[in-house]
Amino acid sequence: MCGIVGYVGLKEKKEILLDGLKELEYRGYDSAGIAVIENKKLSNFKAVGKLENLALKTKNYLSSGFGVAIGHTRWATHGKPTELNAHPHLGEKSFVVHNGIIENYQELKRKLQGSGVTFVSQTDTETIVHLFEYYQKQNMQPFEAFEKTVDELEGAYATLLISEVEPDTIFFAKNGSPMLVGFDDKDIYFASSDTPIIGKAKEVYYLNDGEYGYAKDGNIKLYDKNGEKTFTKQPLSKDKFTAQKDGYRFFMEKEIYEQSRVMSETMMGRINGNSIHFEELDQEFLNGIDSIKICACGTSYHSALASSYLFERLARIPCVVEIASEFRYKEPLLDKNTLFITISQSGETADTLEALKMAKRAGLKSLSICNVDNSSIVRESDKTILTRAGIEKGVASTKAFATQTMVLWMLSIYMAIHRKTISQDVLTGEINAMIHTPKALLVNDELHTKIHRLSKRYLHGHGFFFIGRDIFYPLALEGALKLKEISYLHAEGYPAGEMKHGPIALADSHLFTVALMPRTMHYEKIKSNVEELSARDATILAISPMPFDLADDFIQTRYDSHPMLEFFEMMVITQILALEISIRLGNDVDMPRNLAKSVTVE
Ligand code: AGP
Repeated sequence: MCGIVGYVGLKEKKEILLDGLKELEYRGYDSAGIAVIENKKLSNFKAVGKLENLALKTKNYLSSGFGVAIGHTRWATHGKPTELNAHPHLGEKSFVVHNGIIENYQELKRKLQGSGVTFVSQTDTETIVHLFEYYQKQNMQPFEAFEKTVDELEGAYATLLISEVEPDTIFFAKNGSPMLVGFDDKDIYFASSDTPIIGKAKEVYYLNDGEYGYAKDGNIKLYDKNGEKTFTKQPLSKDKFTAQKDGYRFFMEKEIYEQSRVMSETMMGRINGNSIHFEELDQEFLNGIDSIKICACGTSYHSALASSYLFERLARIPCVVEIASEFRYKEPLLDKNTLFITISQSGETADTLEALKMAKRAGLKSLSICNVDNSSIVRESDKTILTRAGIEKGVASTKAFATQTMVLWMLSIYMAIHRKTISQDVLTGEINAMIHTPKALLVNDELHTKIHRLSKRYLHGHGFFFIGRDIFYPLALEGALKLKEISYLHAEGYPAGEMKHGPIALADSHLFTVALMPRTMHYEKIKSNVEELSARDATILAISPMPFDLADDFIQTRYDSHPMLEFFEMMVITQILALEISIRLGNDVDMPRNLAKSVTVE
């Protein structure tokens, strides 16, 4: 999704902006642009497509000496991905970049058009720069005009504005979209996440919703609705996450292979003998909790759904899972004894964040399971358990899903212990299986080669069904989502027992069924479901530790002593299958069309 970088200082500005935007590239975008004011002169470049196009356009441009600069990668929401719609947007003397959505932009636009302003783009963002200039022309000082502008904006935004009328200043505001300020002596940086400024700034301040101000003379002035405020900088991590591909063809591939290792990190310090320990939680936090509600989107929703089986089975606590975008508008009934859990890789997903805010307003205790510390969801939650997956660059989530599921599995055991619903024997079996999970996640050459070979059969056909039962149903949903995202082939995840209630009508030899057939979870039941499909000539790819005669293709799994081990091993197989099909189809695995890594609009 959109990314912002800004800089005030003496250094060469083009490189700072392009480097910073490069770090945000993985979030997904379809155009990019930069604007610089130096010696009171504005320069601006925009390009559709990849950042290389912008780099080409700015090839002969250099900015040395003091100046201010802003840059942006845009993921189209209002208006097509064109140069005119790309940020920064120009007024007469000012430029603006913005992430989020200005909900009342049409009303503001009409007002400005009524006073003679001409708009050149279809975006909501352009309203900000014209509104600023409108007030500025009414003899307001630039900051006063900016303050008045921000006051009129409704919706979510993180925005930076520069103007020839005050050429040594960047004006900033944040509400609902992430933004931070980095400091290094007299240099000031802005960014929508910390990766662009790691290695450049030494300290950081994460802006809160409702804060705005300006950067000038090596410092910032910060305000909110109560006036000027003080703030405390914190040290910025020095680790530059320049995650390289390490010889893998794609980040997604690297991330699939990393799962075994990162899973150990997810568990580190949390498995304590025959018990589970989260230093982030205390027993008091769970006192009085008699049910769980989980909200999430996409892949995170699938890990939530899988965990609902575990919470109910092991901790005997009712658990309801909701898609965050649906939850927001259903006028949900919320009970204060319900623990509200949000799950998010990025911690910035707008729908999930808003669902969390609703639950907080209703007085629920909140817990987030997230991969990005200091993200908006983490900061909004009462408690957080970090998944420790490391930065995930592939848009199609893999290791984030694996680590989320592991944290949720551990949490279900933690609660089962707290609620005294688990016997020692079962507990020992669960912990033992957890410890063996990294093994089940290892990818060996033989397996990868086999999937590569059989993937050539699955490039056409009229669709895929991934089927499973119990926790393997959410895994089927996730397998189908992975395939859809990067192959652009139609795929659905379905509960195996539900096929006969409709979808089986689609069965013929061009319907591909990926059947998840674990030994430890309703094997005989799912076997019958797959036989029903086979009898109607569907092409079957069976994934199971048990040989299955009716399969057209068969991948034999090895870890069948516990359902979760089977779950994780099958998860890897579905990920590699999606990867290999996508590669054969010649797609951009890491940045699939139309998708963004971090979905910060609703
Ligand atoms: C995963 O492969 C997807 N790209 C997407 O569904 C993602 O899981 C969803 O947008 C939620 O993101 P989050 O975990 O960062 O909140």
